[in-house]
Amino acid sequence: MAIQVVILAAGQGTRMQSNLPKVLHPLAGKSLLEHVISTAAKLDPAVSPMVICGHQSQLLREALSKYPISWVEQKEQLGTGHALQQALPLIKGDRVLVLYGDVPLISETTLKRLIDTTPANAIGMLTAELQNPAGYGRIKRDLEENIIGIVEEKDATEQERTIQEVNPGIYVIPMQLLNKWLPSLKNNNAQKEYYLTDVISFAVNENITIHDVQPTSIEEIFGINDRVQLSRLERHYQQEQAEKYMRQGVTIIDPKRFDVRGEAIIGRDVTIDVNVILEGKVSIGDGCIIGANSILRDTQLGERVEVKAHTLIEGATIAADCIIGPFARIRPGTVLAAQAHIGNFVEIKQSSIGEKSKINHLSYVGDSVIGKRVNVGAGTITCNYDGAHKHKTTIGDDVHIGSDTQLVAPVTVGEGATIAAGSTVTKDVSPHELTLTHHLEQRTKAGWKRPVK
Ligand code: UD1
Ligand code: CA
Repeated sequence: MAIQVVILAAGQGTRMQSNLPKVLHPLAGKSLLEHVISTAAKLDPAVSPMVICGHQSQLLREALSKYPISWVEQKEQLGTGHALQQALPLIKGDRVLVLYGDVPLISETTLKRLIDTTPANAIGMLTAELQNPAGYGRIKRDLEENIIGIVEEKDATEQERTIQEVNPGIYVIPMQLLNKWLPSLKNNNAQKEYYLTDVISFAVNENITIHDVQPTSIEEIFGINDRVQLSRLERHYQQEQAEKYMRQGVTIIDPKRFDVRGEAIIGRDVTIDVNVILEGKVSIGDGCIIGANSILRDTQLGERVEVKAHTLIEGATIAADCIIGPFARIRPGTVLAAQAHIGNFVEIKQSSIGEKSKINHLSYVGDSVIGKRVNVGAGTITCNYDGAHKHKTTIGDDVHIGSDTQLVAPVTVGEGATIAAGSTVTKDVSPHELTLTHHLEQRTKAGWKRPVK
């Protein structure tokens, strides 16, 4: 039986106090709506999810253009029932699953359970007991514990407000019932809105079974209304991820100061110090050590790599046993072969560095190919940009570059060459020789006195 997911996301989200639509705010680096869409897409891949948009709908469409979604405009936001009504003519499938763009952590497992356990002609809904049910619609049950209705907080009596079982707003409803009921919704309530929750009382009146399911964890149903709730859910999500990795054999010194914003694969016996952020697609091989305050983005680390504190690595491939940092910046297109060492205040961009080569202090290496066992002295700069074009520097195996050397690209340094400290290299360098570009002999001024105050 095909199921159409409809995600309600037309509201403005006033309490975010933001120019960005609420559902585009990120949680773990991914917008709230993207979380819901990716979960929805796993349920019935044959039917692409439908999103009801209204407020800044153009922005939403652009931000999510990579997803196969059918978009439905709700020009005026007249309530959740009205929102779903806009989608009715376009719905494919026999049943509808209603989700919300601002309830990001709803899980595939809970939704599958809701869908699979709800009989074909019944209504399925989630319910949950909350310590603090404020803001949610409350579930009303009769003496036999059957659900008899949902009352919105704004319409509830004082007595009803003490009910702790709430309506997360997630339902499975047969199309045939929606077609019958939605056109007859009325807005005679405190908010003058067309409430989707009224379908529950329709079901009760017509003796349609209402089947309720509880989410696996309570945070799954948490909606985001403001940035305080957003930060709480972010920390919850990050704690869950940290615990998952710890159970897989990763030491995380402080899970409260660990963030994954994307998909990370982390090997066994990896140690991650505080304030590490992993973004995009990251993989970290067994036995790596990631120092405090480091950021890895779209990067692969082989086994036993040591990233020392305060290091930023983006778009790089790092082989086994490299040592990087502290305070290193590795930019996109960098490939380090095994056992390379990159030290403090070194920037590398779009370059490949051979096995056992060392660039340990205060250097810039860009658009370069560096061979094996090369030693690049402190303060060496590849001058790769002439103001219009980028040029390449090629350095052979076993080269030794003295400190404070400038390599003006395009330039090639032959293997085994030595370049004296302070050289400005503008022509290709012969292999196995010493090259120097000193103009001045060292002199001493006899009898010179340092000025005194
Ligand atoms: C709704 C439920 C309430 C439930 C709560 C759970 C109704 C009448 N009430 O209340 O029982 O406890 O969700 O969070 O359904 N939206 C639209 N178009 C609209 C109105 C809303 O797309 O015209 C979207 C919003 O963007 C939001 C979602 O629907 O994502 C929920 O709307 P909201 O106004 O927050 O409903 P609640 O009053 O919280
Ligand atoms: Ca809400």
